[in-house]
Amino acid sequence: MDVEIGPLDLSAHVDEALAVQAVAFGLSADEVAVRRQIVQRHMNHPGARAFGATTADGRLVGFVYGMPNDRAHWWSTVVEPYLRARGLDHWLDDAFVITELHVHPDHQNRGIGRTLITTITDTATEPRSILSAIDTESPARALYRSLGYEDLARHVLFPSAPRPYAVMGAPLPLRRAPGPS
Ligand SMILES: CC(C)(COP(=O)(O)OP(=O)(O)OC[C@H]1O[C@@H](n2cnc3c(N)ncnc32)[C@H](O)[C@@H]1OP(=O)(O)O)[C@@H](O)C(=O)NCCC(=O)NCCS
Repeated sequence: MDVEIGPLDLSAHVDEALAVQAVAFGLSADEVAVRRQIVQRHMNHPGARAFGATTADGRLVGFVYGMPNDRAHWWSTVVEPYLRARGLDHWLDDAFVITELHVHPDHQNRGIGRTLITTITDTATEPRSILSAIDTESPARALYRSLGYEDLARHVLFPSAPRPYAVMGAPLPLRRAPGPS
């Protein structure tokens, strides 16, 4: 891997991170402006932390951030009824949430995403991790499954998001060897 993975001061590097997310995930300028506020708010939550992937010449090409789940957080309140309907809402307790994971397309498929998510979850003291991903067969969903994440709910609708999401959960530490997907 030609990049270095390490702790990232996301508040200080939010514009670089959102530039990566904009090209990896597809964000308009308006969406970037909204995300900038959300990221700065998230970084004030207890236990919120980020890791970045940086090239030798100092360019951020990937990042992950997350935090211990709090049932009062907006994300948790949206997914809770979907999990509760399946008797799975205990996943919201003692869980580390992966909020964002993005790798610049020029640097994808080299193990950076896998290293970012295993690195951040290795710092978690919680016994499990949860996240949401667009509910389609994507590289992200394949990566999460290979790490042990399983579907907890499908077709989850977030206000203002046009596409449904899947909520996934995995025991920590994440599985290392890629498993069946
Ligand atoms: C998801 C993402 C972060 C993965 O980052 P990455 O650095 O390319 O991932 P890695 O190189 O570590 O690949 C790990 C696994 O991802 C999966 N994967 C990666 N590219 C894939 C592709 N084109 N098709 C299917 N699976 C793929 C595989 O399971 C792969 O494991 P393997 O190498 O053992 O086969 C990256 O594709 C990305 O930024 N996508 C766009 C943004 C996004 O969807 N973010 C997640 C939001 S929930």
